[in-house]
Amino acid sequence: MKNDFKVLVLISGRGSNLKALIDQAVDFRIIAVLSDEPDAKGLKFADEAGIPKHVFHVGKKLLKQAILEKCREISPDLIALAGFMRILQPEFVREFYGKLVNIHPSLLPDLPGLNTHKRAIQAGINKHGCTVHYVDNGVDTGPIIAQSSCAVTPDDTEESLSAKVLALEHRLYPWVVNNIARGQIKLKRDKVWFGDDVKMDVTAYAGN
Ligand code: GRF
Repeated sequence: MKNDFKVLVLISGRGSNLKALIDQAVDFRIIAVLSDEPDAKGLKFADEAGIPKHVFHVGKKLLKQAILEKCREISPDLIALAGFMRILQPEFVREFYGKLVNIHPSLLPDLPGLNTHKRAIQAGINKHGCTVHYVDNGVDTGPIIAQSSCAVTPDDTEESLSAKVLALEHRLYPWVVNNIARGQIKLKRDKVWFGDDVKMDVTAYAGN
């Protein structure tokens, strides 16, 4: 049934991908937003959309366990990491494997980790972009679902490249999550499976 697919979004900061998911949710419903940073700017998007949000007031030591327990309690169909800056426990990843996706600002497996735009410019590569992948226990590893790319031009700065890639992210992530919700993207035996009815156009959900 439309919108019956429950998504939990985890953020740590700005939340522009959360906003894109909220705005382009067609076949899923965001049932909660969880942040490890009580002051994350992106929490305002949850407020504006009337989505319940959860922040934690426990010390660093207890935080990961608290996040795991909250995710269990919410029991979503999918957890979407959207700028969530904390490395999840192996136990967490094991428990939600196949129901846990992330967006990363590079064309993985190139440039895992932080500061990808700066590193792309330093490396002199001429193509850059973003990747949505299932999360496993590595850092930015895990089966790749989809990527969007753009050219890196000689006049690009870290800021201009970041803006270009972010615009791609805001199309790609909702596209993937809508298709997962429609049962058209799945993880089967550690491989990403696409249904015959997957919407090929990555802008399919934009502009609602
Ligand atoms: C995005 O570039 C995303 O790919 C990365 O962290 C950034 C989060 O941005 N994982 P925002 O908080 O969604 O604006």
